[in-house]
Amino acid sequence: MRPNYTLSTAPMMEWSDRHCRAFWRVLTKHSLMYTEMVTANAVIHGNRDYLIGYNDVEHPIALQLGGSDPAQLGEAAKIAADYGYDEVNLNCGCPSDRVKSGFFGACLMAEPETVARSMEAVIEAAPIKATVKNRIGIDDQEDYPSLLNFIDTVSASGVNHFIVHARKAWLNGLSPKENREIPPLRYDLVHQLKAERPQLEIAINGGINTLDEADEHLQHVDGVMLGRAAYQNPWILASVDRRFFGAQSDPVATRHEALRAYFPYIESQLAVGAKLHYMTRHLMGLFNAQPGGKQFRRYVSENAYKDGAGLAVLEDAMALVPE
Ligand SMILES: Cc1cc2nc3c(=O)[nH]c(=O)nc-3n(C[C@H](O)[C@H](O)[C@H](O)COP(=O)(O)O)c2cc1C
Repeated sequence: MRPNYTLSTAPMMEWSDRHCRAFWRVLTKHSLMYTEMVTANAVIHGNRDYLIGYNDVEHPIALQLGGSDPAQLGEAAKIAADYGYDEVNLNCGCPSDRVKSGFFGACLMAEPETVARSMEAVIEAAPIKATVKNRIGIDDQEDYPSLLNFIDTVSASGVNHFIVHARKAWLNGLSPKENREIPPLRYDLVHQLKAERPQLEIAINGGINTLDEADEHLQHVDGVMLGRAAYQNPWILASVDRRFFGAQSDPVATRHEALRAYFPYIESQLAVGAKLHYMTRHLMGLFNAQPGGKQFRRYVSENAYKDGAGLAVLEDAMALVPE
């Protein structure tokens, strides 16, 4: 079977939380899933179960860390390993202000030595796979030479797996959202990186919307990471097990079946005090572009927030969509 990073889902703050991942796991048993970013500081000092707790069904799962202090990152990585994470990943791609001020995220593209020291500490502290997610570069860095320098410097620390979001981040003047849309995609540079550093595992990310596109990239690189496409149209994940991982069959055959397969998880969460809408907000794209999809979304939006809302809301909403 191909490695789980062949097709992975992206770390996305507010989106790829544990409830979302548990739903995606109904659709694919094999894809590697990344958590939202959690700062090393929060992992060490915060409410750990709340921040990095997850459900066993979510494996294979990677914890994404934010930070640039080697000692802290090492400590957080050790905690991740103790929690049973399969991988720990360092965020070197996120351009938000909050992240800039804390000296982590995409600004680290200009600090490859710092990243290398950090990853040495992570590898030393945690006996699990250690990876980096980065951009091509930032601001006015030269496109390919600075990417190569970053990768060479960081891989000397022992990291051999990089996920490259195939565009630059412009740290001044663009919002985080614009930084996912405006800097041009340069898939060619990521393909070139793999060609010139074949010993490294390189996954590509950014603007990949279909499994055909993913297949195309896999001619050049080792993995494809899907972000918004997986969130906005989760059904795309329902055929990856057979297509990319050689599974005999995909886990569910229809969107309705997927939803029903998620019910036991929802029930278990309601039983421990979670609200229905914590989970239903991740289901809004399931019937995307399907007859009845709009009615499904409207019904869920109007009813999942009500006090005591339970599975009946989803049963009723599902009945609005022809099976
Ligand atoms: C809502 C949202 C939150 C994100 N949060 C993170 C994050 O915490 N860490 C990170 O490395 N990237 C984050 N990203 C970027 C994605 O991981 C990914 O690199 C980006 O969306 C491009 O991939 P896509 O075109 O497949 O969505 C976020 C993206 C979105 C849409």
